[in-house]
Amino acid sequence: MNRTIIENAISYIKELFQNEFSGHDYFHTMRVYRTALKIAEIEKADPFIVSLAALLHDVDDYKLSLDTYETKEKARTFLKDQGIDEIVISQIIDIIDSVSFKGKDSVIPSSIEGKCVQDADRLDALGAMGIARTFAYSGSHQRILHDPEIPPLMDMNEKTYRNHTSTAINHFYEKLFLIKDMLNTDTAREIAQHREAFMKDFLDEFFLEWEGKR
Ligand code: ADP
Ligand code: NI
Repeated sequence: MNRTIIENAISYIKELFQNEFSGHDYFHTMRVYRTALKIAEIEKADPFIVSLAALLHDVDDYKLSLDTYETKEKARTFLKDQGIDEIVISQIIDIIDSVSFKGKDSVIPSSIEGKCVQDADRLDALGAMGIARTFAYSGSHQRILHDPEIPPLMDMNEKTYRNHTSTAINHFYEKLFLIKDMLNTDTAREIAQHREAFMKDFLDEFFLEWEGKR
């Protein structure tokens, strides 16, 4: 594995995500990278492809870089500049294309490397980390914490999921509790169990306090 390229990717995302406050910061990418590598070891996936796909998975995200979302130009340019083979570049781009959550339109990556990266990205939306990121994202998108009059919207397709405005609490039902059944590997499912239980405890507590019962 070429360590220098990995180090360059880490420096690149550190610079790129300097002013990112919606839960997609440098540290999110680093957690995804480390978790993906941990899963990859168990699943016997290629660590170089997993590392680069994890490190670059959000650089052309539609919320952060709408103009390069279709072409994945930032990831492509970086990989080309590092002298990586076209075939490997297209494997990595395919993974980046398939990892993100799109409601009912989410796809399962075809490679084991992609499955590891998708699981790692989804795990970072769960647990204490997931709770923190949900409120950070909601705040940065002018969304309120909770409104009992606005019910969660279920079974959304990609377009509805992207365009609909909801509350932070609804996000748990609209995405986070759906994740456990969408994971690809047993390793990730095991980690998800504990994280989901923690989010449930948090919501129980939230509603008790909301209703003045605690
Ligand atoms: P990912 O890093 O998996 O691509 P997203 O881009 O979907 O994640 O979102 C980044 C973070 O913000 C995640 O923790 C996600 O759960 C949270 N998030 C996404 N959409 C919403 C929303 N509508 N309301 C609250 N939090 C959200
Ligand atoms: Ni991500």
